[in-house]
Amino acid sequence: MNIAVVGSGYVGLVAGACFAELGHNVILVDNDERKLAALKKGECPIHEKFLPELLQRHRGKRLAFTDDLHDAVRRSQAIFIAVGTPPKEDGDADLSYVESVARGIATAIDDYKVVVEKSTVPVYTNSWIRKIMLLNGAPAELFDVASNPEFLREGTAVADFLYPDRIVIGADADRCAAVLEQAYKPLVDGSYYDKRDIIPGPLAGPFKARLIRTSAKSAELIKHASNAFLAMKISFVNAVACVCEAVGADVEQVCEGIGSDSRIGRRFLYPGVGYGGSCFPKDLLAFRSVARENGYQFGLLDETVKVNEEQRNRFLRKIRKALWTLKGKKLGVLGLAFKNGTDDIRESPAISIMKTLLKEGCSITAYDPAAMERAAEELPPDAIKFANDPYEAIQGADACLILTEWEDFAALDVAQMKKALRYPIVIDGRNLFKPSVMAAAGMNYYSVGRPDVVGERRSVPRTTELKTELSEPGNKVA
Ligand code: UDX
Repeated sequence: MNIAVVGSGYVGLVAGACFAELGHNVILVDNDERKLAALKKGECPIHEKFLPELLQRHRGKRLAFTDDLHDAVRRSQAIFIAVGTPPKEDGDADLSYVESVARGIATAIDDYKVVVEKSTVPVYTNSWIRKIMLLNGAPAELFDVASNPEFLREGTAVADFLYPDRIVIGADADRCAAVLEQAYKPLVDGSYYDKRDIIPGPLAGPFKARLIRTSAKSAELIKHASNAFLAMKISFVNAVACVCEAVGADVEQVCEGIGSDSRIGRRFLYPGVGYGGSCFPKDLLAFRSVARENGYQFGLLDETVKVNEEQRNRFLRKIRKALWTLKGKKLGVLGLAFKNGTDDIRESPAISIMKTLLKEGCSITAYDPAAMERAAEELPPDAIKFANDPYEAIQGADACLILTEWEDFAALDVAQMKKALRYPIVIDGRNLFKPSVMAAAGMNYYSVGRPDVVGERRSVPRTTELKTELSEPGNKVA
C-alpha cells in the first residue's frame, strides 16, 4: 500500500517506520525543515529502541520524507494524521494543527482516500475532520475518515506497534475499514512474524495481533479511556502507598497481593513520584473536558490528577524529613526523564521536583542515561551540574535522590554509593532498592509506601570537611 503519515513526531515517526517495515511505501510529511533535513540524512531525532535500525533499513527505499502534503496525499491510499494536539490553558486539546492538515488533504483529493486520525483526539474530531474537508471542496464520495488510535509507550514504541495488544479500527464505512485492515494485515494474519530479520517481540512464541473494529466515536473514546484508566491505576496505587506509610505496611507486598488477582493485574501498579510524560497528563485533562462539555462531571479523573500532583509534594516532604533544612544542601539526583527508556522530559516529575529544590537553595548534580541534554535546555543554567555516571552525580552529596525508574540505577552497587555519598541517605522515588539491602548496608533509606530505614550507624564526615561546611553561610548539617 501507499501510505502518507503527516507529522513526524513520536507517533508519526514510529508509525511511518513500522508501516515501511510491514512492506508499505510510506511518505512522512512534516513542515519542520530542520527535522526533515535531519531525517533525510539518516539521523533519528528521538531516543527510541529499534527506531534508528528501522529508519536505516527503509530510508530511501520504502520510506521517504517530504514537506509536500499535496503530493503525498495524491500518491497515497491512506493518510494518517499524527500531528500534535497540545493542551490549551483550559485543558481542552488544541486541534488547530489537525484542522489545518484536514484542509490541506481536502484540496489534494482526486481519488478515494482514507483519512485516519492517529493523534489522540477528543470524541467528535472525526466528524469535524469530515466537515472541514467537505467545506474545503473534498467530494463526499472520495473520502472517509477513520480513527485508529495508537497505544505506543515511549521507549518501547516500535515493539508496541509491531506486537500490539490490539489494533483498534474505528470506521463507520466498510470500504474505509477494508483499507485499514489491509494496512495492518501482516500483523493480523501473522505473516510479518514469519519473516527473517524482524524486530524481536517481547514474548517468545507465535504471535498474531488482535483487530477490533468499532465506530469512529468509540475508537476515539477507547484511546482517552485507556490512558485515563492507566493513570487512575497509578494514582490508586500511590494513594494506597500513602495509607501504607501511615500504618507501617509495605506497598510492594500489598501490590503483590492485589496484582495477582487476574482481574487487577500486576502491571501499572508501581507507586512512585507520580506519572508524567506527553500523554497521561494531557489526555486526562482533555478527557475530563470532553466529559464536562457533554454534561458529565468525571470526578474520578479530578481525583486522579489531584493524587498525582500531591505525590510530588509528598516526595519533597520526604526529602525534608531526611535532611531537615534544604538551603545549601548538595543533592545527587539520579533520573531526569519522565520514565525509563526515553530522553523525554515533558511533564517529568523529576524536573518539577528539581525546580522546587533549586528554588529552595539546594545545589544539584544530576545524571540520566538519556535525558541530560534535554534537561539542560529546561533547567536554569548554572544551577545544576551534570555528571558522567551515577556515582559521580552523588559524589560528596548530602543525599541521593532517585527520580526515574532506570534499570541501571537498580543495579548500582550500594556499598559504592555509600562510599561516594557524604551522608548515607537515599530518598528513592521509584522504589528501586529493597529496604533490607539498604539497611544491611547501613544506609538511611526513604522510599514510597514502605517503612523508612533509619540506621543508627552513620558515616560521619571527616572533621576538616565538617568545619568547612559549618563555616559556609546558611549551611546546617542534617
Ligand atoms: C502512555 C501509555 O502507556 C501508552 O499506551 C499511550 O499510547 C501513551 O501514554 P507513555 O507516556 O510512553 O505511554 O508512558 P507509560 O509507560 O505509560 O508511563 C507513564 C508514566 O507513568 C511515567 O511517568 C511512568 O514513570 C509512570 N508509571 C507507570 C508509574 O508511576 N507507575 C507505573 O506502574 C507505571
